[in-house]
Amino acid sequence: MKVVVPSARPGTNRPIEIVPSVLPADFARLGDEVMALEKAGVDRIQWDVMDGRFVPNLTFGPDVIAACRPHASVPFEAHLMVEDPDLLLPRYVEAGCSLLIVHAESTRHLHRTLGRVGELGAAAAVAINPATPPSAVAHVLDLCAMVLVMTVNPGFGGQDYITTMEPKISAVRRLVLDGGFDCDVEVDGGIGPKTVSGAAAAGANVLVAGSSLFRDTAGLEHAVGELRSLGTSAARPPEGEPA
Ligand code: DX5
Repeated sequence: MKVVVPSARPGTNRPIEIVPSVLPADFARLGDEVMALEKAGVDRIQWDVMDGRFVPNLTFGPDVIAACRPHASVPFEAHLMVEDPDLLLPRYVEAGCSLLIVHAESTRHLHRTLGRVGELGAAAAVAINPATPPSAVAHVLDLCAMVLVMTVNPGFGGQDYITTMEPKISAVRRLVLDGGFDCDVEVDGGIGPKTVSGAAAAGANVLVAGSSLFRDTAGLEHAVGELRSLGTSAARPPEGEPA
């Protein structure tokens, strides 16, 4: 009988996905930037919605996202860094987002809010800030297509990756595997060529990147390809499964 010893870094055989954050994009030409990202081969596009209250920064709302929707066919996800996310949920779905990411710290009734996203016909995801433990999402994974483990404190691009989040990424992957949930694990913040391998090896399969994509002098396509190949070679299959 094959004995499978759970390792501290559970792997995943879910495909590596590259998701750009548009925060470093040229806001005066967002439609063109979205087209360029799609051409560079990204899997989805993340819109960092900030309300100046949940995080100390203010970005854009559903109208800007809706204006860019016709410029690309890749799926859009809205990362809602807002107090009281219930307020505008339908507006993000109407704007063309097929995945809504709600922060566990932003609502009293997380289970209800995630259920509401599903009722609106979108996929739901839950995000946790660096200080929030994996246990905060353990009882809502059945409602989620994805868990986002923030690898920076949210609010700004260009921050340093918090390496001490890697055991937490693994703990979230462990929760997903042990529960048999069909759920991606996303990381966001400071992801680039030097940090992506650690995150993927820890169990993340969806990699959000902003500044490392837009500042790559070899261009977006090169940056996306490099992150995907580094992430893919660092990712490991779950215990007991062939590589
Ligand atoms: C920060 C945002 C991130 C950020 C990522 O609150 O959620 O998406 O824009 O940017 P980089 O990759 O530059 O850290």
